Amino acid sequence: MPMTIVSGRFATAFLPTSISISKLLSVKFAAQRRVVFVSRSIHASVSVETNSNVESVIEKEKKREEKNILACPICYSSLALISQPNGLVESVASGTQLQCNTCKRSYSSNETHIDLAVASGSKQYSEPMPLSTELFRSPLVSFLYERGWRQNFIWGGFPGPEKEFEMAKDYLKPVLGGNIVDASCGSGMFSRLFARSELFSRVFALDYSENMLRQCYELLNQEENFPNKEKLVLVRADIARLPFLTGSVDAVHAGAALHCWPSPSSAVAEISRVLRPGGVFVATTFIYDGPFSFIPFLKNLRQELMRYSGSHIFLNERELEDLCRASGLIGYTRVRNGLFIMLSATKPR
Ligand SMILES: C[S@@+](CC[C@H](N)C(=O)[O-])C[C@H]1O[C@@H](n2cnc3c(N)ncnc32)[C@H](O)[C@@H]1O
Repeated sequence: MPMTIVSGRFATAFLPTSISISKLLSVKFAAQRRVVFVSRSIHASVSVETNSNVESVIEKEKKREEKNILACPICYSSLALISQPNGLVESVASGTQLQCNTCKRSYSSNETHIDLAVASGSKQYSEPMPLSTELFRSPLVSFLYERGWRQNFIWGGFPGPEKEFEMAKDYLKPVLGGNIVDASCGSGMFSRLFARSELFSRVFALDYSENMLRQCYELLNQEENFPNKEKLVLVRADIARLPFLTGSVDAVHAGAALHCWPSPSSAVAEISRVLRPGGVFVATTFIYDGPFSFIPFLKNLRQELMRYSGSHIFLNERELEDLCRASGLIGYTRVRNGLFIMLSATKPR
């Protein structure tokens, strides 16, 4: 994205001339060119600050951004680097070893992702998840996902990834420049859009499916001239056990995934735990209201369908609002189109 567009957008939409330095810095631009721009804006609007003061605050802010926010999924403590071929704590490199500072459990990465699922590395123990999670672990479904499967959602009113990305960006305005978790990223179509936009300091593409993460890795490597690839980190984890420090995440995006999670309430509670005060949650899913509400015994039918498929069927918007509120998120808002809903809620400050 050319600098003029980025600068123009931030200058008009997010940086009023009277803004305070702390507010200005909370925008947290990570890319060097944005830091240069922030620095220029500060000089223009707050003349009392000296050059060196401003630059040192920005440097501090950059260092804070680069802090490792990955955590042990067992005790939520920070992870120490045991070995890392290229020295970058969060970049994916085969052979990276991380160890929990509290329970000393270690985690490793392979060629495609860091495995931070609770049972990662277990040789004997395995645990099947509900069908809605297991389905996406299959190599075939993972391969087909971005090659036709996802495109079918258009029949439910999903506008398509590019439009959904633009819509999500509107909700994410207050946290641009911060880090973002693309929760249940699948083959990573949104993770790539977030990373390519360079609007976030770091993008965590997280999914439970090893095969989806492999697709994500391969599709990423197929894209030519992908900017700042190292800012995109692929993580395997369960949505109900997120491997991030409490209050460390600026934004969580979850495209077409809420209905696939075994327990949406455990998942949204986890999302709420990892979001920092003021952090934003934005998600899309299907809602079966309107003509569907005339189907007799729909609620009972839903119980049965959910029991066997493991996926959740939302019958009205109030359920989603309730879910967010129950998990400690406020300011619920949404956009509808047919069965499609994009919702957003915020962690209170
Ligand atoms: C329909 S896909 C959505 C992919 C992508 N976000 C999109 O917008 O197209 C649902 C994703 O949820 C993931 N998923 C299901 N259960 C999960 C769980 N327990 N933890 C993390 N991800 C899960 C699946 O692996 C799958 O990639």
